[in-house]
Amino acid sequence: MTMAAIRTKPDPQIYTFEGFGSSRYPNLMLRGAGELDNWRLQVYTRKWEGYEACRKALKMEPAAVTAEVKASDLRGRGGAGFRTGMKWGFMPKDTPERKVTRYLVCNGDEGEPGTFKDRAILEYNPHQLIEGMIIAGWAMQCRTGFIYLRGEFSWLIDKLEAALQEARDAGYLGKDILGTGWDYDILTYRGAGAYICGEETALLNSLEGRRGEPRVKPPFPASVGAFGQPTTVNNVETLAAVAPILRMGGAAYAELGTPGNTGTRIYGLSGHVKRPGLYELPLGLPMDFILNDLGGGSSTGRKIKAVIPGGSSAPVFDAKDFDCPMDFDTVKARGSMAGSGGMIVMDESTCMVQALLRLTHFYAHESCGQCTPCREGCNWMEMILHRIEHGQGRPADLDLLASLPPRINMRTLCPLGDAACGPVESFLQKFRPEFEYHIEHKSCMAGAKSILPGVLAPA
Ligand SMILES: Cc1cc2nc3c(=O)[nH]c(=O)nc-3n(C[C@H](O)[C@H](O)[C@H](O)COP(=O)(O)O)c2cc1C
Ligand code: SF4
Repeated sequence: MTMAAIRTKPDPQIYTFEGFGSSRYPNLMLRGAGELDNWRLQVYTRKWEGYEACRKALKMEPAAVTAEVKASDLRGRGGAGFRTGMKWGFMPKDTPERKVTRYLVCNGDEGEPGTFKDRAILEYNPHQLIEGMIIAGWAMQCRTGFIYLRGEFSWLIDKLEAALQEARDAGYLGKDILGTGWDYDILTYRGAGAYICGEETALLNSLEGRRGEPRVKPPFPASVGAFGQPTTVNNVETLAAVAPILRMGGAAYAELGTPGNTGTRIYGLSGHVKRPGLYELPLGLPMDFILNDLGGGSSTGRKIKAVIPGGSSAPVFDAKDFDCPMDFDTVKARGSMAGSGGMIVMDESTCMVQALLRLTHFYAHESCGQCTPCREGCNWMEMILHRIEHGQGRPADLDLLASLPPRINMRTLCPLGDAACGPVESFLQKFRPEFEYHIEHKSCMAGAKSILPGVLAPA
């Protein structure tokens, strides 16, 4: 096992990286991450067989490229785990009567709390993303690719633009790419930091210069997407997996991980662990192996009480689920979501009332306000939690709080409403005594002090 600490600026917590370069845990997407010149085309080509997969794909029929991705059984790394090859297959084809303008959009919004993987690819391995976007663009015969970036990623935009220019200069982007007669370019677009703009249809509105609010579906983006044209939206990590798939072949990629949950993914480990950071690992490894063997276990010497397994929207796990294999299907069967791969670790000293208030405050703040159940419901959940946290909880509050998620879940335009409910339901189900203690004793069972003073006026 080799461990490489990478740069520790500007944010040591986020940018600490543990790389595992053995053949057991192949690094397909984070190769070279942390080496400052890794983003250059020359390094990517010389060290990592860069653009070989692109050359191979452009000699294949577009449908055969999609078939290779289907054979890999790659599932989207943006949250829902939707099968990538199938999604590409939804894009309409040209007909003798109609030539279709198709777009590819790379979702680089990365707003889910606990998630910090896409930025590492964008910063250290942009050519791998660009190569994946060229292959995907060819497979779907797109005219243009867009990289939609979270507004706060200002520090990496220049590097990304420079990498795109290198690809253009080398003939991988632009007119008549590699003599195929196919014209295709990739443009970047920066959002303004709203979490909802990570939702694919809100992202498309934002990309078009409109207010970033989710659209009514159907129509789905594959029929009516960016600028009214058929569009596929994929996550950064999903697209970064495409070049390795073409290079090694879909079937070989599918042997990594477990059946139906193939390949490697990047886990972001944060919170009370000794070695927080990014870990690229095959799907299906047990959570406690990631927490303890790789993450070094608790950073405080206290027992780990809870882990949110897949970004803040994923229902929380308590210790009885720490043995859960980390793949989409098993995490779902245990009542949570593998989501974006962001694992948030909380030790025994964490006040679960406080933690839930913090999460719920986020969703209430980020709700776009279009749907009443989400707009009002998230605020109500926050207000109730706020008074429980601040010693003004009432005996009936827990039942009142528990009555809200069923009125929000599945009753909204987009999944943000559901995302806000998952934490509330699971925290109440697994840590109810802490909430009862707060109400009864007006203090914290875990001994924590109040947070968020002044966010809301006390009820
Ligand atoms: C509120 C909300 C925020 C989201 N944020 C992101 C995000 O930051 N990045 C992302 O890739 N997907 C995000 N998604 C999921 C996207 O809507 C979409 O499913 C995803 O980009 C598809 O890519 P994939 O198929 O490669 O996973 C979000 C969804 C919701 C409901
Ligand atoms: S669920 Fe919430 S964020 Fe999504 S569209 Fe409705 S109000 Fe907006």
